[in-house]
Amino acid sequence: MKQTYISDLKNHVGETVTLKGWLYNSRHSGKLVFLIMRDGTGLSQCVVFIKNVAEGEFEVAKSLTQESSFIVTGTVKAEPRSVGGYELDVQKVELVHLAQEYPITPKEHGVEFLADRRHLWVRSHRQWAILRIRHEIIKSIRNFFDDRGFTLFDAPIFTPNSVEGTTTLFETPYFDEGSAYLTQSGQLYGEAGAMAFGKAYVFGPTFRAEKSKTRRHLTEFWMVEPEMAFYDLDMNMDLMEEFVEHIVQQVLTNRKMELEVLERDITKLEVIKRPFPRISYDEAVAILHKKGLPFEYGNDFGAPDETGIGEDFDKPVMVYNWPKEVKAFYMKQDEKDPSKAKGVDMLAPEGYGEIIGGAQREDNLDLLLEKIREHKLPEEAYDWYLDLRRYGSVPHAGFGMGVERTVSWICGIHHVRETIPFARLMGRLKP
Ligand code: 4AD
Ligand code: MG
Repeated sequence: MKQTYISDLKNHVGETVTLKGWLYNSRHSGKLVFLIMRDGTGLSQCVVFIKNVAEGEFEVAKSLTQESSFIVTGTVKAEPRSVGGYELDVQKVELVHLAQEYPITPKEHGVEFLADRRHLWVRSHRQWAILRIRHEIIKSIRNFFDDRGFTLFDAPIFTPNSVEGTTTLFETPYFDEGSAYLTQSGQLYGEAGAMAFGKAYVFGPTFRAEKSKTRRHLTEFWMVEPEMAFYDLDMNMDLMEEFVEHIVQQVLTNRKMELEVLERDITKLEVIKRPFPRISYDEAVAILHKKGLPFEYGNDFGAPDETGIGEDFDKPVMVYNWPKEVKAFYMKQDEKDPSKAKGVDMLAPEGYGEIIGGAQREDNLDLLLEKIREHKLPEEAYDWYLDLRRYGSVPHAGFGMGVERTVSWICGIHHVRETIPFARLMGRLKP
């Protein structure tokens, strides 16, 4: 009998099919055993009636422990009250492997206990739903750029220099070259890509060694970074909002069931449609001061500030034109107000904070050199980057979106550690 997947049962009502999977939960009463199977595509109840199976198989069904692997053959029936909406009337049960006592039981466990068993925790229904949404988000990111003429441009992970500031670098020995650093962002390479392909995107893992123990910080996370030649800050913001609208709407269309598992209030996602509000840094500070929050003008926003600004809007808000001191060296100086840099952050609603950081880049060689010196960065490490301003420099812009913070917002879950298969945090390197 050909294997069918639970997600496909809707196309087999009335037919006899075989499912292969693991025991998620079970109960029995008298002549009936109810097995909830999970097969990676969903959950389904398999009803074993003693008279419908061969001798001995009823005992096999009864003896299955949590996470035992097994195969069932039965007839598919629509059953709206049952998990997933379909049920199997079982005719045959076959044991593949009887699991030992499974450590993650349906009762509540502490998060450290679960994180230590992350290799098993990913089988739980909530984790499964989150990671399926993560996959949908990554797929929609790729489709968005691929469909708009962008070329994928992979950046290296071992790099000779810092992009976002020197205090957050992981250093590793590198043969006779001295030290290599794990990349904080592929942006500088992405800029080379934009000059070669017009529109390029970098998509890969990035690393931050900052000692932040918050619900928003991982030491290893995935970032997607589009970079566009002949784009200014406004065009950059247009693309950012089109991009985020696309991702949210794709998840709503294709991952309804997973959002339901997470009990996500989808009315909060349905409103994520263009245009998004755009406010200057000065206007953002005014919001904080109006709320009586103790924010000092000229600083970067901390998590409580981002939450304070974001909660005034039901869509992501873009904050642009930042004091140049708090932003990276590569951001273009504002022509009208040289104290400002043409950076933009996108803050998610519902208190999720910054999901995107971007900017129009400094395209003037002399000004860029000045900034590298101001930031006390090693000039030699950037000689190749400066070449991009020597040979046909053009206005250009781009941004970087953190995948995990975006997953966390769209799923409505508190901590980024559940948004990636194996989270790397300051205090966690295992499993
Ligand atoms: O704002 P960031 O540091 O910007 C850059 O790295 C730019 N070079 C991007 C660019 O313009 N190409 O990081 C961008 C995003 C943040 O908005 C956030 O979503 C995510 O990356 N991020 C983190 N996510 C998880 N853990 C961390 N420690 C993160 N640091 C940044
Ligand atoms: Mg940032």
